[in-house]
Amino acid sequence: MRFSLRVSPPKIIETRGKGVFEPARPEPFTGPPRDYMRMFLLARKDYLSVFRKGDYRSHVSQMRGLGRQLILVNVPEHVKYVLATRHDNFERKSPAMRRALEYLLGDGLFISDGETWKQRRPLVSDIVHKNRLPQFAGHMEEVALELVRRWQELPPETVVDALAEMGGLTAEIIARAVFGDDISPGDASEVVAGFTSFQSLVDNINLAYVAGFDNGIPLLKTPRLRRAISRVRGVIDRVTVNHLEGRNQDGSMLDLLVRRQQKNPELGLDRNALRNEAATIFMAGQETTAATLTWIWYLLANAPWAEAAVHAEIERVCGSGPPTLNDVPKLDYCRAVVEETLRLYPPVPLLGRQAREADRIAGIDVLPSALVTVSPWLLHRNPDLWKRPHHFMPERFLGGARPVPYSYIPFAIGPRICAGLQFGMTETILCLAILAQRFKVRLAPGTTVRPASRLTLRPQHGLPVTIHPR
Ligand code: HEM
Repeated sequence: MRFSLRVSPPKIIETRGKGVFEPARPEPFTGPPRDYMRMFLLARKDYLSVFRKGDYRSHVSQMRGLGRQLILVNVPEHVKYVLATRHDNFERKSPAMRRALEYLLGDGLFISDGETWKQRRPLVSDIVHKNRLPQFAGHMEEVALELVRRWQELPPETVVDALAEMGGLTAEIIARAVFGDDISPGDASEVVAGFTSFQSLVDNINLAYVAGFDNGIPLLKTPRLRRAISRVRGVIDRVTVNHLEGRNQDGSMLDLLVRRQQKNPELGLDRNALRNEAATIFMAGQETTAATLTWIWYLLANAPWAEAAVHAEIERVCGSGPPTLNDVPKLDYCRAVVEETLRLYPPVPLLGRQAREADRIAGIDVLPSALVTVSPWLLHRNPDLWKRPHHFMPERFLGGARPVPYSYIPFAIGPRICAGLQFGMTETILCLAILAQRFKVRLAPGTTVRPASRLTLRPQHGLPVTIHPR
């Protein structure tokens, strides 16, 4: 469904002063409460621009303007209820999310539920488990150092897009971890190009779903969408078949999945299921870390005091040698920068769930099939839970300080918590340390940053930057 109506996006708030930086965010929505068409048009470009000032505060609210009951939960105790206590009733992803991803990921873990999810979750958790970090960290170090060498060759003042650079970096890392030796840099960029094109074609909101038609209207498989899908599948299928035929026994995630299946045929992981899980891990692990690293460069470029603290810590912990996995537990300030970045710009800013049966949240009767949304974006900027919620302050995560339980959920929480949490945190800290040891990143003159949430939260037009050797 395409609308030709246009709405102007909200203004961006961004302020800086000495030792203070309040990074870019859309001005809260101030239109009339029932201006659904405008809200819908805005939301299709960026969900975050339909939130009002009051939405950021602790509350649970419902809206029934269209056919479906929409519930927004922004209180830690009720977040716990939805995502953990009553996980069985709210485990199902919103049909909008399922529709957006099903052609690409099939029944992959990210969008599956019920028995499929129950059976596959331990399997996937196991193969991305933190015990396997030493092997994955090898890929992280290797690929980040390749980028260091490439950046060293850049002519001074060359403008590059940090989002694309970080996208290439994390694609290469996750590709080597998931597919092993059998994937070339060309293959990895082919998969990323396919995903990127797929994402740009997928609509944010399926109006038919919000209007109450149960599962919404499936995405139209346009020729461009088909091409995007076949770019991704072409590469993944070839690698999967190689693993299935025993041509690659390289300890990669795909290799382990194939071996599990061979040992336990009752798992029923056929070629399609293997491809879906491999594509899921690739997608879940690539975009999220790329977006986080991109936001880190934006924040550090605007917060010289934080950048200096990052540099000092890397020098103290790693000396002049390249940072390694062993250094990660000692990089406290770098970790705090990553945590603060994930607070301000959670890559998955909305967690939408479809209620299986009637329920009750904070005195509101939840109807079967209601869409219940927990938004890390709102929760992480809730002024009732955070001091100076829109400011970049890595110190808030230092010295053992921890947020109120269930108020900080960049990796979600409960049984569906991100399976790659340790992988993602380690990768982000390590890549930050390896690159920041050698370079400063500066925004290209005239760059304005607009956060926009489509499948993930990214700077809408990328992040043009220049790279400066230190
Ligand atoms: C900074 C990095 C990352 C962030 C912020 C992040 C965030 C998330 C979030 C919020 C979810 C839950 C989504 C929902 O419930 O709707 C999720 C799920 C998932 N993530 Fe991550 N993720 C990151 C990195 C990774 C990495 C590196 C991998 C794999 C190596 C990964 C694999 C997965 C998988 C497989 C799921 C589905 C889990 C399930 O439904 O049971 N993620 N992630």
